[in-house]
Amino acid sequence: MAKLCVNVDHVATIRQARQTDEPDPVAAALVAERAGAVGITVHLREDRRHIQDRDLRLLRQVVRGKLNLEMAAVAEMRAIALEVRPEQATLVPERRQEVTTEGGLDAAGQAGRLPGIIGPLRQAGIALSLFIDPRPGQLAAARELGADYVELNTAAYSEAKTPAGRKKELEALREAALGARALGLGVHAGHGLTYLNAGPVAALPHLEELNIGHSIVAHAVFVGFERAVREMADLIERAGRS
Ligand code: PXP
Repeated sequence: MAKLCVNVDHVATIRQARQTDEPDPVAAALVAERAGAVGITVHLREDRRHIQDRDLRLLRQVVRGKLNLEMAAVAEMRAIALEVRPEQATLVPERRQEVTTEGGLDAAGQAGRLPGIIGPLRQAGIALSLFIDPRPGQLAAARELGADYVELNTAAYSEAKTPAGRKKELEALREAALGARALGLGVHAGHGLTYLNAGPVAALPHLEELNIGHSIVAHAVFVGFERAVREMADLIERAGRS
C-alpha cells in the first residue's frame, strides 16, 4: 500500500525568498513525520535555490524515517550523498532555467554516464531510485542500470486537461507500475500530485511511495502544515485500501 513521503523543498523556497531563517524545512520535516509521513524528500539543486547543504545535514540528524535525496547525476552531488548517507537517492534531471523538474531522467539515453554515479551510491548502501517517465524503454534501462526503484513521473497525468487525457496518463502509469514490478523494481511516483488527483495514483498496483510537496505546502498556508500532511497521508491510505 502506498505511503507518503513529504517533499519539504517549498518550505525552503519561502525562506529563501527573504534570505532569512524561517520557515525552517527541518522543523517541517519533524512535523511531517509526526503527521504520518514515512519519509522526507529534498532536492539539493546545483543552484541551491531552496534546500541548502546545512538543511540536508540537519535533516540527516533528525529524520527518523526515510531521508530521500533527489539529486542531479553529477560528481558534486555524488560526493555529498556519500558523505550524508540518505537512506535513498533519487536521480533527477536538472536544468538551471526550469521552474521545477521537467520530465523524467533519460535513463535509456544516459546509460553510459549513470553507472559512475549509481555504482558508488549503491555500494555505500544507499537505495537508488530513478525518476523516469512511465515508458517501457526507461523501465528496461533502469533495470539494466541496477536501480532499486523507479519513481514514475506523474506530471503528464497531473497536467492532463481532460478526463480522457487523465485516463490515458493513468493507464500509462498503471502499465509502468506493472512493468516495473515484473522487472523486479520497486515503484514510487510523484510530481504535481494534489489533494484532487493523488487518489487514483495511490490506488495503482505495487505503488509503495508517493513524493508530494507543492500541494501540501500550498494547503498548509490555510490549514497548517501538520493538518495538511495528515490529510494527504489519510487520503493516500484510503485510496490504497479501495
Ligand atoms: N518527485 C520528484 C522527482 C520531484 O522532482 C518533485 C519536485 O521536486 C516531486 C516529486 C514533488 O513534486 P510536487 O512538489 O509537485 O509535489
